[in-house]
Amino acid sequence: MANQTSAGPSHIAIVMDGNGRWATRRFLPRIAGHKQGVDSLNRCVRACIDRHIPVLTVFAFSSENWNRPADEVSGLMELLAMSLAREVPSLVSNGVQLRFVGERQQLSERVREGLAQAELSTAGNSRLILNVCFNYGGRWDIAQAAQQLASRGEPITEQALDRAMALAHVPDPDLIIRTGGEQRISNFLLWQAAYSELHFSDKLWPEFDEAALDEAIGAYRGRERRFGKTSAQLAPAVDRHDTKAA
Ligand code: FPP
Repeated sequence: MANQTSAGPSHIAIVMDGNGRWATRRFLPRIAGHKQGVDSLNRCVRACIDRHIPVLTVFAFSSENWNRPADEVSGLMELLAMSLAREVPSLVSNGVQLRFVGERQQLSERVREGLAQAELSTAGNSRLILNVCFNYGGRWDIAQAAQQLASRGEPITEQALDRAMALAHVPDPDLIIRTGGEQRISNFLLWQAAYSELHFSDKLWPEFDEAALDEAIGAYRGRERRFGKTSAQLAPAVDRHDTKAA
């Protein structure tokens, strides 16, 4: 089909769902699933580097996750701090630039310092930008962007909002993957998902491996991205390209 997306995605975003179920099925505490989730994230980062995908954005802690049991919330904060201490050196050597996206004021000073330090240590890297959405919500992002414009007295236009969003440093995601079998967005990238292709995997996040990533990328390549146009409008552009190439 001439109109299929032939290039792979430049920006993949993932809702890493299913850690709790992975653990519960093994009679383990939920935090064991999140620890396994960090290993799965490491594997996914390496896979994206191998596949020359320049941007990966993951949902690690939502604005709503504060409502989870206190021990799970504190466990996730601890896991974040530990993972940074353990993983930053290998992220640096693999050329990964780490960016944290979300509301930081609510986080402890120790966590905030960890985030700032990790960003500083990886700031010079450009092979892969890894955005970790932490204490993030799509509605929070739209509201904070609007607040910025209002405080500067700027007109609220699409372009101005776009520039004020927390993910303004990367293009919108081409492909959003959600693992764990649920088919919803859950307040992730509400603004940026306008034209993203969606892929839902039944695999739980700790089980999401290279083959599952390739399946998602393969499904993406088979999609026709029309951005509001018709199929017929897209076809001549592809034909012209083919003729020029030939
Ligand atoms: C959703 O699974 C997952 C989370 C809320 C946390 C995701 C975190 C990681 C993958 C680890 C990386 C995190 C850090 C701190 C860097 P769930 O708990 O909702 O699973 P369930 O739907 O099976 O209950």
